[in-house]
Amino acid sequence: MFEMKPEYMTGITMIDEEHQKLFELADQLYDLLNNDFIHDKFDYIVEVINGLKEYAKKHFKDEEEYMMSINYKRLFSHKIEHQAFLEKMEGLDLESIDEDQKQTCLELLGFVSDWLVNHILGNDILIGK
Ligand SMILES: [Fe+2]
Repeated sequence: MFEMKPEYMTGITMIDEEHQKLFELADQLYDLLNNDFIHDKFDYIVEVINGLKEYAKKHFKDEEEYMMSINYKRLFSHKIEHQAFLEKMEGLDLESIDEDQKQTCLELLGFVSDWLVNHILGNDILIGK
């Protein structure tokens, strides 16, 4: 469902591999929502969301270090976008997720995938240029 596409490639291997992993984590959450064999998914959902949050943090740090290493000019505005994503993830109310697991997680996935695609195409791609 969520996957890397050729147009998302920045040409910087580390960044592309980490983006790949972020798509995989989003996909894991999607698969989990559609798994009808698990009765109460809450614990699993929390685990995947935390994993996604942690990996996003690591990825942003790596990407920002890379931008610094090449004296990238748009580092500051780029960092602000990363920060906004993390704030949204930190602000998630896990209890409201428990009330309607599928709906809230689908909304979250919509946010994550839109953000990733827009951010990669609008910002990350420029790092490789
Ligand atoms: Fe980025």
